[in-house]
Amino acid sequence: MPNNKKMYDKGKVVIGLCIFFVLVTFPLWYNHLKAAPAPEPKLVGKAAKAGQECIEPKAFMKTEHMQVLDIWRDTVVRSAKRVYVNESGKEFEMSLTNTCLDCHTEKAEFCDKCHNYASVTPYCWDCHIDPKEKM
Ligand code: HEC
Ligand code: HEC
Ligand code: HEC
Repeated sequence: MPNNKKMYDKGKVVIGLCIFFVLVTFPLWYNHLKAAPAPEPKLVGKAAKAGQECIEPKAFMKTEHMQVLDIWRDTVVRSAKRVYVNESGKEFEMSLTNTCLDCHTEKAEFCDKCHNYASVTPYCWDCHIDPKEKM
């Protein structure tokens, strides 16, 4: 009997620890979940002109643009292939500066504003150029 009692206590301790852990880390993952849906950014610059379309549909770009850029980088650096063809057969040069920022001409207003809200700071600009800043 004394043995059983001990095991029962152990179970309680483990459950207690689990609850404690969840409570202590709550702000961490709660903030993470909360930060996920980004705000609705206002289109500015050339991208805001009538008839402009992103390289892929907006909903896809909103959630997948980082993956797209990763794939573009890998494709350019590893296979020296520079042309991207989208769903509707339209061709784009796979370039952060010459393509994305050529259309999204206001990086600060578009990319940065959204990233600041989501607390992400892409390090890409250590090397890649925002054509605006160069001038
Ligand atoms: C030819 C112009 C053009 C190019 C090139 C372009 N975009 Fe876009 N982008 C747009 C337009 C226009 C929209 C808005 C689409 C809409 O409202 O349907 C948009 C939407 C977006 C969105 C979604 C914004 C939101 O409201 O959620 C992101 C993110 C984005 N673009 C990132 C990029 C990135 C990264 C690249 C390069 C890989 C890129 N764009 C290339 C014109 C462009
Ligand atoms: C609608 C809001 C929004 C807009 C507009 C936007 N981004 Fe982002 N971007 C995000 C979010 C949110 C993340 C973080 C996603 C994650 O961590 O899964 C991100 C992540 C990234 C990353 C990966 C960063 C990292 O460290 O992992 C890159 C690169 C990037 N964005 C480039 C751009 C560029 C370039 C533009 C402008 C042409 C742009 N983004 C416009 C919301 C946006
Ligand atoms: C340490 C410097 C450095 C950093 C930081 C960096 N890159 Fe690059 N990137 C390069 C170089 C060098 C190339 C090859 C240039 C070429 O061949 O045109 C390249 C190529 C690319 C290309 C294809 C060619 C082009 O002109 O855009 C993409 C897309 C790209 N990187 C995206 C990114 C993204 C997104 C980030 C941030 C998450 C990033 N890079 C961070 C140095 C860097």
